[in-house]
Amino acid sequence: MPFKTRDEKEIARINQLQQERFDLLVDAFEPPLPVGVPERLSRIVAAAEIEKGASVLDVGTGSGILIPLIQQYEPGKIHACDLSREMLKQVQTKHSGIETHWCDVRDLTLPDHSLDVVCINACYANIADKPGAFRLLARIVKPAGKVVISHPLGKDFINKFKPNCPFPLDDFPGEAEAWTLLSPFGFVIHSFLDEPNLYLLVVAKRG
Ligand SMILES: C[S@@+](CC[C@H](N)C(=O)[O-])C[C@H]1O[C@@H](n2cnc3c(N)ncnc32)[C@H](O)[C@@H]1O
Repeated sequence: MPFKTRDEKEIARINQLQQERFDLLVDAFEPPLPVGVPERLSRIVAAAEIEKGASVLDVGTGSGILIPLIQQYEPGKIHACDLSREMLKQVQTKHSGIETHWCDVRDLTLPDHSLDVVCINACYANIADKPGAFRLLARIVKPAGKVVISHPLGKDFINKFKPNCPFPLDDFPGEAEAWTLLSPFGFVIHSFLDEPNLYLLVVAKRG
């Protein structure tokens, strides 16, 4: 099955709802984080295999919890995008040298083949236009560059929010489904881990 498609009106509606919701939730994503999450976030960023000088994009960065972990690898550039302006303000307050982008990931205007690594932590479920997002990522990620799709509380964590969430949260794919969804965009599976409290899919752009 390919990605679910939504019309532009529906995508705009979902994004507006998310922007309003996450603008109010900045503090909820700040430390102290639940027990075990800091260690799992370190594993997630380690899986990206960021090299010194690399260009990294954090999609749905939120308040930027991944940023200090990414910085440990001495990247050359960190981009952070989010629908929530308040989240990005928090990122700018806490960190220097981060290029923030207030937009849907699918609308990023970065140059072709300009990124080595893309992190999508606790945000995959939220992306309303996944075909648009992965089409864009296929354009801006370098050949052999990596996209890390993760959740530090496991893929089922989102289920408890679904009943009262005003916008849809899409399920994380299993390994076979991930291949079916992402190979049309030129990504191959590099590694896949689906544990009760850690979902970690790394895909690489075909060279
Ligand atoms: C659950 S929060 C996770 C934040 C952060 N990655 C973390 O791990 O703490 C999801 C974030 O993704 C953002 N988001 C949702 N859909 C997005 C999209 N299409 N493009 C960019 N950001 C998006 C939301 O505004 C929100 O800040």
